[in-house]
Amino acid sequence: MASPSETYLFHPEHHTHLIPYMAALHASSINIDRTTIIGPFLPPLSLEPLLLWWKDRIAEHQAQTRIIILLLPPSEKANQKPKGEDLRGLAMVELDQSQAGNFRGVIDLLIVGQKFRRQGGARSLVQACEYESAKKGRSLLTARTESDSPAELTFRSCGYHEVGKIPNFSRTGVDAATKKGVTLFYKEILLQIHRSRTIPAA
Ligand SMILES: CC(C)(COP(=O)(O)OP(=O)(O)OC[C@H]1O[C@@H](n2cnc3c(N)ncnc32)[C@H](O)[C@@H]1OP(=O)(O)O)[C@@H](O)C(=O)NCCC(=O)NCCS
Repeated sequence: MASPSETYLFHPEHHTHLIPYMAALHASSINIDRTTIIGPFLPPLSLEPLLLWWKDRIAEHQAQTRIIILLLPPSEKANQKPKGEDLRGLAMVELDQSQAGNFRGVIDLLIVGQKFRRQGGARSLVQACEYESAKKGRSLLTARTESDSPAELTFRSCGYHEVGKIPNFSRTGVDAATKKGVTLFYKEILLQIHRSRTIPAA
């Protein structure tokens, strides 16, 4: 289905005030969804370490080694600042900096707020990741998801090819022994697809 939300490339001037809300959305994915495949954290998690982690991710976005995409309600005015509570979802691509791999990117975060799921938000975020990555000369994206999860279904439905599964890949925070499997995906992308809305620099 077509998403009722829109994707926006993170822009410091317009979106810096959203960083605590980005960290809170990420925290809810770890504490409620128990998503532990991505990032260094296990539940239960407080906001402080996440805020520091996000500071580094924003710096990478500023240095153009990472792409951060936000899912927000459609805005009639391109320069109108969204409110924190407007944040509906998030995605990120880490851009490989190696000489051999500087045409690749890794979608290493994809989260849609609980209230906004099954409305095409994740599909829009993935498409925006592909568009912005292609604009930066990236033609190959990879991703890894928790096996047998909605995220796995999402990447499959977005045309990502499954490479395989690794069982018992990630700790869960339940106990030292309980681990989750991971599914690995890739997609060769072309510069076509959905244009992510990019707020022009002032
Ligand atoms: C995974 C996640 C991002 C999906 O977000 P979403 O906005 O609900 O996904 P979409 O509505 O864009 O779904 C796109 C397609 O993926 C599939 N899909 C997504 N969630 C699904 C679910 N719960 N059950 C079945 N299919 C699902 C469907 O094919 C769907 O297309 P359709 O609705 O037209 O059938 C969301 O569930 C989430 O944030 N989960 C917690 C965080 C997480 O696990 N992130 C990934 C880390 S690896």
